[in-house]
Amino acid sequence: MAEDVGDLNAWQVRIPAAAARLRDARRVVVFTGAGVSKESGLATFRDTDGAWAQFNPEDYASPSGFRKQPRVVWQWYAHRRREMAVARPNPAHQAIATLEALSAQLVVITQNIDGLHQAAGSREVLELHGNIERFKCFANCRGAPTLVPTPDPTIEEPVRCPYCGAFIRPAVVWFHEMLPADVWERAAEAACTCDVMLVVGTSGLVEPAASLPRYAQQGGCYVIEINLEPTPLTARISLYLAGAAGEVLPALAAAALS
Ligand code: OAD
Repeated sequence: MAEDVGDLNAWQVRIPAAAARLRDARRVVVFTGAGVSKESGLATFRDTDGAWAQFNPEDYASPSGFRKQPRVVWQWYAHRRREMAVARPNPAHQAIATLEALSAQLVVITQNIDGLHQAAGSREVLELHGNIERFKCFANCRGAPTLVPTPDPTIEEPVRCPYCGAFIRPAVVWFHEMLPADVWERAAEAACTCDVMLVVGTSGLVEPAASLPRYAQQGGCYVIEINLEPTPLTARISLYLAGAAGEVLPALAAAALS
């Protein structure tokens, strides 16, 4: 399968091959992780300067962490909301949006909660891990999810559910929680039936999202990975482009659309 994994530094020479695959594809999936938003100034999770180097995910991104320290978790998310609110799409997000001109059936599947693909103009975006601008009742008092009005990001104290008085929380997926079933179903179907999948800026370590490239391969799809570093996925994919998403994707989109 790994026909082209060799010199990790030569992404430029592989652009024509990747562009040709994209031009021939009917269905394209772009599967993204935190690396695609790095050049917008948002930290990743597992890089040395990433969030999980500083914050323990069990404390900051799990139901038990929120139960134990609602104020601490609330304030961390309020801080991240403020950072994401001023972040702008970078050339990687923009290039992904322009690829829609090639394929009417282009689906972006993202693990990110920052909304930057939509801000760049991508039309079909499946948010596997939710969106930081949506909130729900922690007790899901009216059924899962009980969505509630989004509070102002400057509020530093946890806000209560207007229906039952429990705390509200961001409607994002935390550790030990299931992905939204409808979104996951659509993502799995898109992965199983696509011709080309671009895997951009993800460490490929968090399940079930990390299984999507494997689903794609099992369906006969050509998988192209774009990342600064090799990941557990790299040895198994079809073509690896080692570079920054904000450099590689504009070059790839330009070649594919020319
Ligand atoms: P990670 O932080 O695990 O991985 C980020 C990846 O992006 C790494 O493989 C980096 O090498 C790569 N990267 C960094 N900058 C890049 C750039 N400019 N261009 C290309 N690649 C770059 O982030 P995710 O894989 O998204 O979930 O993490 C998956 C999930 O784990 C997140 O959605 C989050 C986290 O815990 C939850 O919070 C539920």
